[in-house]
Amino acid sequence: MTSTYDILYERLAATFDRVQPGAEPVLRQSEHGDYQANGVMALAKTLGRAPRDLAAEIMADLDLAGIASVGVAGPGFLNITLLASFLDQQLREVLVDQRLGVALPTVAKNVVIDYSAPNVAKEMHVGHLRSTVIGDALARMYRFAGHHVIARNHVGDWGTPFGMLIEHLIDLGEEQALASLSIGDLDSFYRAARKTFEEDDNFKERSRQRVVALQSGDPETRRLWQLLVDESISYFAEVYAKLDVTLQPSDVVGESYYNDMLESVVTDLEAHGLITVSDGALCVFPPGFTNREGEPLPLIVKKSDEGFGYAATDLAAVRDRVTNLEADELLYVVGAPQSQHFDMIYAVARLAGWLPESVRCEHVAFGNVLGPDRKMFKTRSGETVKLVGLIDEATERAYVALEERKSDLNDRQRRELSVQVARAAIKYADLSTERQRDYVFDLDRMLAFEGDTGPYLQYAHARVRSIFRRLGAPWDGASASFALENDAERSLALGLLAFPEAFHLALESLQPHRLCVYLFDLAQRFTAFYEACPVLSAVGHTRDERLALCELSARTLNLGLSLLGIDAPDQM
Ligand code: ARG
Repeated sequence: MTSTYDILYERLAATFDRVQPGAEPVLRQSEHGDYQANGVMALAKTLGRAPRDLAAEIMADLDLAGIASVGVAGPGFLNITLLASFLDQQLREVLVDQRLGVALPTVAKNVVIDYSAPNVAKEMHVGHLRSTVIGDALARMYRFAGHHVIARNHVGDWGTPFGMLIEHLIDLGEEQALASLSIGDLDSFYRAARKTFEEDDNFKERSRQRVVALQSGDPETRRLWQLLVDESISYFAEVYAKLDVTLQPSDVVGESYYNDMLESVVTDLEAHGLITVSDGALCVFPPGFTNREGEPLPLIVKKSDEGFGYAATDLAAVRDRVTNLEADELLYVVGAPQSQHFDMIYAVARLAGWLPESVRCEHVAFGNVLGPDRKMFKTRSGETVKLVGLIDEATERAYVALEERKSDLNDRQRRELSVQVARAAIKYADLSTERQRDYVFDLDRMLAFEGDTGPYLQYAHARVRSIFRRLGAPWDGASASFALENDAERSLALGLLAFPEAFHLALESLQPHRLCVYLFDLAQRFTAFYEACPVLSAVGHTRDERLALCELSARTLNLGLSLLGIDAPDQM
């Protein structure tokens, strides 16, 4: 089916196009009228014409099928009100459309999404929570949009710290070391290794030699390294399962994967005349990047000690993802402080010819998670907060909150539900924040059943489902039609029909919070409808129409939440 938005957009675009080829109508749903086109003002400016005259000309030319009225408001907004018969036709189509009006693309793109990316033998912290939750929502949204998603979990599994980590593993004994890692005691393992490294010169020397052995591929050293990697990765998998994240073990393509490609990255860059030796290090100075003193900024590809670093690996990854994975889009869901790093990576990759202009590259940056004191979220003793601990605490609190509500659930169901509610609370709080902003991690607020929260939306969905439970018999909405006589019905209908554009807006801007804004608004429209329009006590056509609006509301909330990675249980 073609969405309501697309139908109107195409008509308006055709009219705008006749006035000025390519002119943009700028269409959106509005509070005045049903839709509003704001493109007249900009077009009038380009043409040096009076906006209201131009608006009148456009109105006269517009194909009005399905439109009840068009009016000009303010400096030249076009307010469009739709005919109930047109809304009826659209709603009937959505009712039988599994995709709720979201069309599939003409060409499916290969989209590589780099997200989560924790570091081996280090605890996953709240920064990884954001990357994981946002990245996974984007992956789900891209898949639903009909694209081919390749998830890349770029775990930090290489570098000089592995010398000391392996020596520490040897000192502890494999069995004991793995036991402590398997229960997720990653940080104390790392800290203990670091402490010995700093205090014991002999250990330090052994660690240094161990790095050399690791890099030269010594089999025993590689075996020990692999133990650390495997243990950490299975621990991360537990965290992913708790969060219900779609990342698979096969998506783990860590930094070490690119090792064999690094020499040829340098050769390639040299062949393009891009390498400059600076203080013994091999660097690229991409034009336009300067430090605070205005001096050119280097991207260090190979350090003076002959070691490759983070940047070299990311260059190799870009080349691999474009060349071998045939990526059309490269997304990096990584914290905002790395934005310059990624800008330099893209710039150098473009100079080297690895990144054609046609490939879209985006650093999907995000802000910090703050503690109640509005400082970086840490434990009281200043340590990283363990994600697992947060999820468990949220689950316990959700359980208590569910116990306090009256419901028909037994204890086992309440236990299961508390897991879903906790995840919803944590994920929604993260996703509903505009991602570049910081937010305060406040479980009380996140878990509230009222307000703009995950549990509220889950509850809104379950409440709609409960109407169908009370119906007793299965409901077949095939014959429903929509007269939309009540304002609340009409407002809910318009909300339901706006799902495709809300989804696309969120996807194209890589801003899941826009989908959250939409869902919260829809839930409120549903509440207003439900207060104004009795459903089960209505009769005949009206009852069928209202049940159909309920059905569409439940399906839209369910799909929207699932795209955010949030369950929508039927009963709460
Ligand atoms: N492991 C890094 C960190 O914890 C994030 C890696 C992000 N991805 C990338 N391709 N650089 O900060």
